[in-house]
Amino acid sequence: MNIEQLRADTPAVAQLIHFNNAGAALMPTPVIETMTRHIQLEASLGGYEAAAARSTEVDNVYGAIARLINAQPDEIAVIENATRAWDMAFYSLPLQPGDVVLTSTTEYAGNYIPYLQLKQQRGIEIRVIANDEHGQVSLSALKEMLDDDRVALISLPVIATNGGPVQPIEQIGALARAAGVLFLLDACQGVGQMPIDVQKIGCHMLAATSRKYLRGPRGAGFLYVERALCQSLEPAFLDLHAASLQTADTFNIRPDARRFENWECNVAAKLGLGAAVEYALAQGIEPIWLRIQHLAQYLRQRLADIPGVTLRDLGAVKSGIVTFTHRDSSALQVQQWLAAQGKRINVSTSTFRSTLLDMQHRDLLAVSRASLHAYNTEAEIDVMIAALRQRP
Ligand SMILES: Cc1ncc(COP(=O)(O)O)c(C=O)c1O
Repeated sequence: MNIEQLRADTPAVAQLIHFNNAGAALMPTPVIETMTRHIQLEASLGGYEAAAARSTEVDNVYGAIARLINAQPDEIAVIENATRAWDMAFYSLPLQPGDVVLTSTTEYAGNYIPYLQLKQQRGIEIRVIANDEHGQVSLSALKEMLDDDRVALISLPVIATNGGPVQPIEQIGALARAAGVLFLLDACQGVGQMPIDVQKIGCHMLAATSRKYLRGPRGAGFLYVERALCQSLEPAFLDLHAASLQTADTFNIRPDARRFENWECNVAAKLGLGAAVEYALAQGIEPIWLRIQHLAQYLRQRLADIPGVTLRDLGAVKSGIVTFTHRDSSALQVQQWLAAQGKRINVSTSTFRSTLLDMQHRDLLAVSRASLHAYNTEAEIDVMIAALRQRP
């Protein structure tokens, strides 16, 4: 990869060290320019007129996302964030009392809460798949759980918000398909970081966000729904974009995945998401993934040498999200200390509130999270390590 170019496209790296890519990554210049141009067009032409003038570019966003995950453009909906994209899929499923949802210990609270809501409202059952010796979903445990006819859905994140394992999603997808069970994948921390191919994974639905490893703007995300499934899923919410009135008593829901969208949206953010996807594709997802894993491995090695630091990542395959605890400092103190350095270092704190099952299981309240992207460097990691060593 041309790291010089990546950094030249990311002007903020001159002022700060950004290791919060799992929160929101730094946007590259093409994304910023795409969005700025559109906001200026809206200011000079009018919002509706600007959208009409850029309708081809807006349409191309669906094609770019489809290429990123090996889907078709009509299987993509652009939605304001990953949570709402995920909700639109989840709440459309005709789950009945007694239906079982299988999830992982690494599930995100934003998804787990809806399971609990449907447990209360519809009497669904939540079952958590046991982990194997690497701390990732045990495929043999999953296989056994799938013997129960009441299992209606497998739903889990490829990478948890607090790091941990990269789940074996292709094997999970194959088991889901063999059992005839739907698979909803939360690829929020995966897209832009690692290859995500819905054909290879075999997931039926996938939700993701723009602002994390894809390096797009905030306030944008997307949902993939397999074409064969799309028309049988009735969105929990409809509007005049998702559906159209036929008579005073009847309406038609559109056939493609845009039935999960609503009419009003941030067009500049949508175009920015498209530009981010094009940018990632131009770099190559595989090289991005290799570079991120290389940097993360380097950071883990360096952290392991610091007295009092404990690495907290599990999994046979680990991601660019590096988590650790410090014997003498809380995660918040680590975050604040690093932010107060001459050249600010952004890391974040991940608490049990985001990933309760996993953190409870490991008896952790909070971890420090340094999430790396391809534009980061070993030299930046060295600066962070030196700062951690100097912590009083
Ligand atoms: C694994 C995972 N899923 C879902 C989300 C929610 O994404 P969004 O904030 O875009 O709704 C996050 C955000 O941190 C996440 O880490």
